[in-house]
Amino acid sequence: MKTLITDIRELFGILPQETMKKEGAEMKTVASLKDAWLLVDGGKIAGFGPMPYPGQGLSGDGWGADDPSYRPEDCGEEIDNIIDAGGGFVLPSFCDSHSHIVYAGCRDGEFRDKIEGLSYEEIAARGGGILNSADLLHETSEDELYRQSASRAREVMLMGTGSLEIKSGYGLTIEDELKMLRVIRRIKEDFPMEIRSTFLGAHAVGREYAGRQHDYVDMVCDRMLPAVADEGLADFVDVFCDKGFFTPDETSRILDAASRYGLRPKIHANELAISGGVQVGTAFNALSVDHLEQTGDAEIKALQECRTTMPTMLPGASFFSRLPYGNARGFIDAGLGLALASDYNPGSSPSGNMRFVMALGCIMMRLSPEEALNACTINTAYAMGTSSLTGSITVGKRADLIITRPLPSLAFIPYSHQTPFISRVMVGGAVFDPADIA
Ligand code: NIG
Ligand code: FE
Repeated sequence: MKTLITDIRELFGILPQETMKKEGAEMKTVASLKDAWLLVDGGKIAGFGPMPYPGQGLSGDGWGADDPSYRPEDCGEEIDNIIDAGGGFVLPSFCDSHSHIVYAGCRDGEFRDKIEGLSYEEIAARGGGILNSADLLHETSEDELYRQSASRAREVMLMGTGSLEIKSGYGLTIEDELKMLRVIRRIKEDFPMEIRSTFLGAHAVGREYAGRQHDYVDMVCDRMLPAVADEGLADFVDVFCDKGFFTPDETSRILDAASRYGLRPKIHANELAISGGVQVGTAFNALSVDHLEQTGDAEIKALQECRTTMPTMLPGASFFSRLPYGNARGFIDAGLGLALASDYNPGSSPSGNMRFVMALGCIMMRLSPEEALNACTINTAYAMGTSSLTGSITVGKRADLIITRPLPSLAFIPYSHQTPFISRVMVGGAVFDPADIA
């Protein structure tokens, strides 16, 4: 099946196949082509170039399958479907490399506690937070959990996300962690998005192990990990390495055990304190270290020495939890790469809107619109191990695209961040209308 997109005012995010990520000053540029067409074949980008499409001899203005002047034979090859972008932009879909969209119910009660002044740590210390979500998930059947989670997957897909990483971590028992991971597997099967799954058994100590953290870590290593690996349910492993959660030593034990199953780490680090998480992550060649609200020179140095770990910040969590924003400028100016992801979860970031993430990157972290777009596309693709497949406009990559109405500039995207200007999204070559979100 071939689809031709015509009359693209500007096609952004063009990269050669060999670019897996961008770092430092490279993040300032986004290559583009004005007045372009793009051909999709079998769900992949098959080509792009300046209008008119070769062999048509037709102008791009308003031309499309509905146009009386359209004759498929003019296309020079068989095209099944034509999308007239109508002078809008086309961008690569967002890659969201950090989410917890599989959860049951919500935590709107804690939202009230937060408004009244309780911190994330205080809510967790009272037995709320992650344990609250674990209780709800335990009571919820796998089918119902799938139903609620699939609705969030659809929500983010229609907002422009084409690749999505999803974590477990609200089970905290073997049975419930497997339940979450099986739901992620069903979402992988049912959605056209490129999905990766991460085992986060060490998100908090499960209630049955209260006061026995050491035993819980043993259980994660000796029982949960083998069970997860046995069913092939995870692509990556994660640990919440932070003050009040898991220490760097405990994190090392878990990452060491996970390495025996070939699971590469993507870890939660330095959200609540300078936790040592960045250093454990880089020591284990983590694909990414995520959060990073609290960092200093030592973290930058550790990341400079290990160029394979993508620093990932989650500005939606800083916004919702009133935490400091990560030192994005400092990282990029030190020559590091930077990814921005949503952290969509019921406690610290109940939103998966990557346009908002991009806007927060610009407004609160002082990234340029180009840096923010790279941080939400090619660099998040790297952070979830999909940059050979997604994250840019590259022949051979998946046709994961955002098609906008006519817009004045790239900067308009984070600037006017609530305006519903996405006219269509394409995911693996399939076209969706964002208006179907309801
Ligand atoms: O990334 N920080 C740890 N985990 C999640 C929050 C989980 C929750 O509060 O439910 C996060 O912010
Ligand atoms: Fe998270």
